[in-house]
Amino acid sequence: MSIPDPSSAKLFRVLQTQAGISRRKALDLVLAGEVSLDGRPILDPFLVLDPTDGHRVALRGHPLSLHPREPRVYRFHKPAGMLCSHDDPHSGNTAGRLLRAEGFLGYTWAGRLDQDAEGLLLVTNDGDLVQASSHPRYEVRKTYHVWLAETPSSASLERAFRIMQAGIEDEGEVLRILEGRIDSTARCAAVTLAEGRKHEVKRLFARCGYSVTRLLRVAVGSVELGRLAPGAIERLPQAEEARLLEDARRLLDKTDAERGCHSDDDSV
Ligand code: URA
Repeated sequence: MSIPDPSSAKLFRVLQTQAGISRRKALDLVLAGEVSLDGRPILDPFLVLDPTDGHRVALRGHPLSLHPREPRVYRFHKPAGMLCSHDDPHSGNTAGRLLRAEGFLGYTWAGRLDQDAEGLLLVTNDGDLVQASSHPRYEVRKTYHVWLAETPSSASLERAFRIMQAGIEDEGEVLRILEGRIDSTARCAAVTLAEGRKHEVKRLFARCGYSVTRLLRVAVGSVELGRLAPGAIERLPQAEEARLLEDARRLLDKTDAERGCHSDDDSV
């Protein structure tokens, strides 16, 4: 048996890394006949390609390089007022514009924040990490500091946390926090959630009678915002980056296997 070149990659992985799309999307595009190999449609997303073989791969006619891009992960402190959008005709202040201006080509963020919210976004060129960190199914824990218009007593806030932990029905969804506490240093409420539904924190507090005046995301999974200044972007330490990418890969492989999707351990 011949030993594969270490830079060989499965077709769906090439699409993911070169086009910055999720693995699900990459699989779908191949199966839909949108990908060609040497000018002919190729329908096997798991075909292993060696970049030294001189094959030509194109997605919707657009040529893609077979040389793997290095996956990277950065912490970004989104300031209040910035929109989590790649382009918005009504606002020049978008995360996409900032990333392009800073040379982050093919990068996106994992998990959105409202325009008026601040705090930690993971910025990456790795489609698996985007999917694993942002889809409600994967239940990544996110912690927020929350400031309120009112100044409730500790007892009222603790009661609200218990209600939020039990789950609150809102617009046909059950929203809940995993943990709530009063952060005496930041003088605010601190809540941890695992689902990431739209406006989830504001909706939970609103259902308990409080309106949120400031929302700061301080942690996503094991990654913390720390002292990163608003607007700053900083690469994760290499060991942390590698662990995060590996965890995302494992999580998605496990889900694919559970759904009966063909995906091997070596699908890197
Ligand atoms: N919950 C919200 O209400 N807004 C966010 O931006 C994030 C979580």
